[in-house]
Amino acid sequence: MIRVLFVCLGNICRSPMAEAIFKDLVQKDGLSDQITVDSAGIGHWHTGSQPHEGTRKILDDHQISYEGLTARQVKETDWDDFDYIIAMDDKNINDLKSIREKNDVVVGKLLDYVPEVNETEVPDPYFTGNFEYVYELVSDGCRKLLEDIKENHQL
Ligand code: 4NP
Repeated sequence: MIRVLFVCLGNICRSPMAEAIFKDLVQKDGLSDQITVDSAGIGHWHTGSQPHEGTRKILDDHQISYEGLTARQVKETDWDDFDYIIAMDDKNINDLKSIREKNDVVVGKLLDYVPEVNETEVPDPYFTGNFEYVYELVSDGCRKLLEDIKENHQL
């Protein structure tokens, strides 16, 4: 089993969007029994909340399910429970490094997988309000990440 955790600051906008999109891609590829997906936030503020309404609306527009997604905070055991911890921006990466480091876990940014795009970080729509642009970046990132995982694990 390959275990993927998406991380952002609040776990209500970007990382649940990534979780929902990535799950959808995994399902469409028939890989749900080989890849598990979750998301978490650096902060604890929104624990138990469903995704932000902007994330829900954009996922509804694209007919992608977010059923059952609720926010939680990153925890130290995530480094034991996941093979990939994929963050949205540089601050997330710094925060993750301050929580724990472990050699056999791939910790990276989603847009590292999309070098051709003009951004290296997924901007936070909680502050920008631009959920459509974030959707485009996150779905490109998820597609490329899945390709990378399939190649590296011969799926
Ligand atoms: P996210 O956006 O990290 O993409 O979920 C945020 C959501 C909430 C807050 C910050 C960012 N907040 O400060 O409450």
